[in-house]
Amino acid sequence: YRNLLTQAPVLEPYAVGRAPDGAKVHYYSVTQKAGTAKILPRLSTQILGYNGIFPGPTIDLVQGTRAVLKIRNQLPPTHPVFGYPISTSTHLHGSASLPQFDGYASDVTPVGFAKNYEYPNFQAARSLWYHDHNVHTTAKNAYSGLSAQFRLHDPTERALLPQGEFDVSLTLSDVMFAADGNLAYDDNSFSGLWGDVILVNGKPWPVMKVQRRVYRFRILNASISRSFRPTLSTGEPVHVAATDGGLMPRTQSVESWRHAGAERYEVLIDFSGYQPGQRIELRNLSNKNNIDYDFTNRIMAFDVTDQPVDTSDHTWKTIPQTLASSEVMNLRPARDTRVRKFQVKRDNDVWVIGEDSWEDIIASGFRRVIADPDLGATEIWEFENSSGGWFHPIHIHLVDFQILSRNGRAPFSYEQGPKDVVYVGEGETLRLLMKFGPHRGKYMIHCHNLPHEDHDMMTQFSVGLKPGDVDLNDPMK
Ligand code: C2O
Ligand code: CU
Repeated sequence: YRNLLTQAPVLEPYAVGRAPDGAKVHYYSVTQKAGTAKILPRLSTQILGYNGIFPGPTIDLVQGTRAVLKIRNQLPPTHPVFGYPISTSTHLHGSASLPQFDGYASDVTPVGFAKNYEYPNFQAARSLWYHDHNVHTTAKNAYSGLSAQFRLHDPTERALLPQGEFDVSLTLSDVMFAADGNLAYDDNSFSGLWGDVILVNGKPWPVMKVQRRVYRFRILNASISRSFRPTLSTGEPVHVAATDGGLMPRTQSVESWRHAGAERYEVLIDFSGYQPGQRIELRNLSNKNNIDYDFTNRIMAFDVTDQPVDTSDHTWKTIPQTLASSEVMNLRPARDTRVRKFQVKRDNDVWVIGEDSWEDIIASGFRRVIADPDLGATEIWEFENSSGGWFHPIHIHLVDFQILSRNGRAPFSYEQGPKDVVYVGEGETLRLLMKFGPHRGKYMIHCHNLPHEDHDMMTQFSVGLKPGDVDLNDPMK
């Protein structure tokens, strides 16, 4: 715990305007380029970054303010370390974007080109992130640095939870290094990459100074493959207030939780009972089907300071119990709710969800879909992990879902909030409830273990389209 925790810079819009309907619009510009990062004590590491930095700049916005993000691809034509030809596609994970702005994997931006992505931001407050989604090279592109935070605020969250310097983003990832300081990559024949170095906001095993009060941590697991099971060294619980899609109905206190790639958990930690000088560690208990190394059981540390606490801020010592009700958490299945069942498995050399790999989707001219719910339909989707000794974080684009059951039982307390990624562990069967909308069009569904996604554990579903319909939002048209 030698490095101080740092935060990525917040990106400022280069212009602010109004849409024809009066909504506020922020215009941002980001250039993807090669850069170097200081991660190791003596060596520097080549990265691909949004604005050339790792992690990329954070976007902070208030619900209702739309965003137009211009992404310019100024990367080298071939990857400086891994040697593959580069193109990119950018996905804002957690946003109900139109299909043409959703970072569709095969909708690529070649080097030297740019694309404007439009984000509606009508959703409730949540922790999102933008990351690369390029067909077949998402894992290496994201691992090389194309990943950043995006935070959406609203009045409910502002009134309940700590703000400003007490609202802290923690992006976890694991990496491994070559002797020259560059990143090494080994995905064990597309099974996954398990690094021996844990980074938080791009720094190995950092430490953060904390006041004796409650903090809010937005924890994102941006690892290529690894899942975590964070826990405090004191044995005290943390209080989970939000999941992927924002505030939960009720706060859930847990001593540890299983946290797969792409999942976001916002947790409150109360440091008010500790003494100045005390060090509290955030450790990582092991999860099944990961590869652990000597120090992957540690994440970061908090050093308690004697800095006076501003007790006029009511969040300094409150752990609110009732948070927010959301449409998806109020959904209830009806007797005639449609149930669709999908198997998650390895099929010869590729991973699949259902029958089609992404190559099959490409070969069909992007016509095949795994499901075609109507606009506004509520459905139950069941995922059964029949792949043997693996776990798969399954991510469904566009919608938030409610986890109905895990192996026929209630989901874990900490996942009883709006989700867009679900941990489908070895031998597990998950049932999810969701309502499809508000956009028509085709969206991806995939495993967020990125080497799985790239080979070829990704398919698509359509919303509100029937065979033969003209899809005005089709990113591949
Ligand atoms: Cu975080 Cu389809 O991705
Ligand atoms: Cu997978």
